Amino acid sequence: MAESKNGFSSSFGAIMAAAGSAIGLGNIWRFPYICGKYGGGAALVLYLVFVFLIGMTLLLSELVIGRRTGHTPMKAFEALQPKRRAWRYVGLIGIITCFLILSIYLVISGWTLNYFWESVSGTLASVADGDFAAHFAAFAASPVAPIVCLVVFAALTLVVILGGVQNGIEKVSKVLMPVLLVLVLLLCVRSLTLPGASKGLAYLFHPDFSKLSWEGVLAILGQALFSLSVGMGVMIVYGSYIPKSDNLFKSAMWITVCDTAIALLAGVAIFPAVFAFGQSPDGGPGLVFNVLPVVFNSMGNVGSIVFGGAFFLLLAVAALTSAISLLEAVTAWGAEYLHKRNVSAALITVLSCVVAVLAAYAYEGGVLGGVKLGGMSLFDWLNKLTGDYLPPICALLTILFFGWVVKKDVVRDELSNGGTLPTRWFEFFYLVLARWLAPIALIVALVAGI
Ligand code: PFF
Repeated sequence: MAESKNGFSSSFGAIMAAAGSAIGLGNIWRFPYICGKYGGGAALVLYLVFVFLIGMTLLLSELVIGRRTGHTPMKAFEALQPKRRAWRYVGLIGIITCFLILSIYLVISGWTLNYFWESVSGTLASVADGDFAAHFAAFAASPVAPIVCLVVFAALTLVVILGGVQNGIEKVSKVLMPVLLVLVLLLCVRSLTLPGASKGLAYLFHPDFSKLSWEGVLAILGQALFSLSVGMGVMIVYGSYIPKSDNLFKSAMWITVCDTAIALLAGVAIFPAVFAFGQSPDGGPGLVFNVLPVVFNSMGNVGSIVFGGAFFLLLAVAALTSAISLLEAVTAWGAEYLHKRNVSAALITVLSCVVAVLAAYAYEGGVLGGVKLGGMSLFDWLNKLTGDYLPPICALLTILFFGWVVKKDVVRDELSNGGTLPTRWFEFFYLVLARWLAPIALIVALVAGI
């Protein structure tokens, strides 16, 4: 059970670590863009509904499964349903998903480290506005630099995991999350004080229901799930470290609020500046590596170094705390079999670096870029599997297990800390959200995705 393990020492530490997992690249390079593209305020309202009703239901169910059993995903499913052991394979799908996301996260996080360095060293300031796309393409396709960056990033992640749950993950999250908040606020102030900033705010927040298509609804739902890091067992593992006395509902609420707040602040930090300098909005690598460097360069040499540096540091920090949670989930799973946490962590880091190197080489223009399966490179496959398929499948099976297989009394007992906390909302959460709404939403998302 959780107490016998080395878990988080406080509610604050637990919330910071889980929020660190949730707040990642997706908050910064995907959320604001999806909002703007699919109707600004209209998309935002829908996102809030999805993230608080469906995302948080999944988050809470994973935290309950983890804390109740004190185990990592496979064993957790087994402990809650020893008679039907096949459920444990849901945990396995989650762990595989974590491993694959970690590999692709390492590649992209490595890019952000490189861009941080190129910002503060003044290299980006000397690139001409029209040359950024070529600059990024040349970097991503080069055989050495992206690999060095991803290995450095993996090593940083590993060091934190080797520190342990309390002295590694919890301590680092308690420092990095406030740093992340300061960085995003600094960028918001700069962005909002630029002449013409209001156009960016209008893009983000002005409700335009005509842009809210069916495709948009699905993208917004997918983003709500990805953003809370649900559907891969990470939150089951973190749940197993949460103190027994914590109120899980409150923790889930705080994690969701922090994640949403940073996503909104990221939008305010990015789009007013993008519009103020006459650039067009974009998402993903295009936004981060092609559009934003032009924006930072328009702020002059010092602006490029300070604000470009702050932005890429923000990205790297957000990516690091997410990568930590992914490596921790797989490490803890491995340690249940290897009985040696450090060996498990090192082994998994090496393996995911191998997959990451292959993925990096498979990116456009790379040595393996031409190797395609079904028209897609390994990089594209990993992106697709970890983005569109595995997490919703795993989330659906998890919520079906939680709502229909785990005994209702067990869930109530865990959420009320053995009957000591009031749970007026329990019936609505369990009967409406967990049993029906969340599974239906996931089925719709999956069917539409296929
Ligand atoms: N929630 C992260 C993001 O929004 O970028 C992505 C992520 C991190 C998903 C960690 C899953 C995970 F375990």
